[in-house]
Amino acid sequence: MNNYEVAMNKLQQEPKKWLVTGVAGFIGSNLLEALLKLDQQVVGLDNFATGHQRNLDEVKTEVSPAQWARFTFIQGDIRKLDDCHAACAGVDFVLHQAALGSVPRSIADPITTNMANIDGFLNMLVAARDAGVKSFTYAASSSTYGDHPGLPKVEDVIGKPLSPYAVTKYVNELYAEVFARTYGFTTIGLRYFNVFGKRQDPDGAYAAVIPKWTAAMISGDDVFVNGDGQTSRDFCFIENVIQANLLAAVAEDERARNQIYNVAVSGRTDLNQLFNAIKKHLAGNGVIYHKEPVYRDFRVGDVRHSQADIAKARALLGYLPLFNIDEGIAKAMPWYVSYFRD
Ligand SMILES: NC(=O)c1ccc[n+]([C@@H]2O[C@H](COP(=O)([O-])OP(=O)(O)OC[C@H]3O[C@@H](n4cnc5c(N)ncnc54)[C@H](O)[C@@H]3O)[C@@H](O)[C@H]2O)c1
Repeated sequence: MNNYEVAMNKLQQEPKKWLVTGVAGFIGSNLLEALLKLDQQVVGLDNFATGHQRNLDEVKTEVSPAQWARFTFIQGDIRKLDDCHAACAGVDFVLHQAALGSVPRSIADPITTNMANIDGFLNMLVAARDAGVKSFTYAASSSTYGDHPGLPKVEDVIGKPLSPYAVTKYVNELYAEVFARTYGFTTIGLRYFNVFGKRQDPDGAYAAVIPKWTAAMISGDDVFVNGDGQTSRDFCFIENVIQANLLAAVAEDERARNQIYNVAVSGRTDLNQLFNAIKKHLAGNGVIYHKEPVYRDFRVGDVRHSQADIAKARALLGYLPLFNIDEGIAKAMPWYVSYFRD
């Protein structure tokens, strides 16, 4: 048994109460599904800003009635301290995912992003501290590396933020560190690198690249590449992110707590390779795409290359990503094909 299986077995034998914020979103709903399948008790908080009831409905179909009965949903807003206090009551572990994602959204509307991502984050820290939770694990971001050119990215070496979104995610880390220091409270930041998988929203102006291109290919539309196609990312399948969250939350080793970790695979895939991978796996699901990609200008605020060093998470959390990008895309494509056919 690997480290993750050992930790999950222990959890299943001694179930705990979890709070997942942003539970109706992509990552939140996948965390919910994983926790319910481990027979945990889960409170979910979401205001449906970018999340959907359909994600919760889908989780319900993936778990048993007894597991679903262990879930309590609170429709509420992390910008309201009372909602955060209500959600944190009696909770052992917080997995804080609620935020407004997307670099372009933050450039178009920095104030709204700031309110959810900084005011909301601070409310959640205060509420979790007041409730005396065992740990507060939160979604940080690879955007914190900003303009630092070094590769692979190592946690301690960051540059200047390139967008309002990146500022908010960096401020989260600063607040979390100060709460750990000032209130003796355990926080663990997970810097996600381009997460993808089922239930990642393909709709809307701020969709991420994999769902956006998948949607375009399924409907036979043009696929637009921002820049020359050589921009690269360390795409990380959702199952790896679930593993990192659960290991971080339950980590008992003092050296592993109050830390920030990269969560990725340590791979590097450029956009041209990504285009071909999605096309190949859609073909395997009966969707044939004939068009060539359409290249356009680089997008403001985007970093050129991103790749994580994951040695720290491996060493301190026992994190071992089980899916590379190809395996992840293979697992995600059937979900998108059925989403667009239904
Ligand atoms: N997906 C990625 O590649 C990625 C990369 C780095 C970091 N992150 C971070 O991971 C987290 C989850 O992202 P996701 O991809 O699942 O996005 P998502 O948009 O699918 O989920 C975010 C959820 O938070 C909810 N939310 C937003 N504002 C809220 C508020 N004020 N009160 C209550 N709920 C609110 C939304 O309704 C949504 O359900 C975010 O913090 C995001 O910044 C994601």
